[in-house]
Amino acid sequence: MKKILVINGPNLNFLGIREKAIYGNEDYNYLVDMIEKYAKEKNFEVECFQSNHEGGIIDKIQEAYLNGTDGIVINPGAYTHYSYAIRDALASVNPCPKVEIHISDVNSREEFRHISVTEPVCEGQVVGKGLKGYLLAIDMILENKYDK
Ligand code: DQA
Repeated sequence: MKKILVINGPNLNFLGIREKAIYGNEDYNYLVDMIEKYAKEKNFEVECFQSNHEGGIIDKIQEAYLNGTDGIVINPGAYTHYSYAIRDALASVNPCPKVEIHISDVNSREEFRHISVTEPVCEGQVVGKGLKGYLLAIDMILENKYDK
């Protein structure tokens, strides 16, 4: 059974509270429930982790390497746009595949969101598909099919 880690970065615990017109009405617990149900349905093991702290996210990525995780789905939140430390952590855990996911369409928002420093070290990226994007990112890992 594949073991997948889903990491959500800063402010994603505020889903359902923050900027609902952009991120929707569903909260973080809804997202976790949705992912856990998908794991039962598709028969994979999943851990959902959220942190507002860069170092906590890096520790979790390193832990995934050490405990034999088969794939990482990560929404690094705003860290996407400038955290070279998270990028380096993601680059460290090869051959574990990583898929970056963004709920919103970052490419049609502010200029600073067009740049992802983490995407180049991920095997795939899902953007602007809402919460369903997490399941699409998981599918990439389950099927071992990436968009680049
Ligand atoms: C986000 C997009 C980021 O620019 C933003 O800082 C977030 C959420 C998304 O899921 O659309 O926190 O990663």
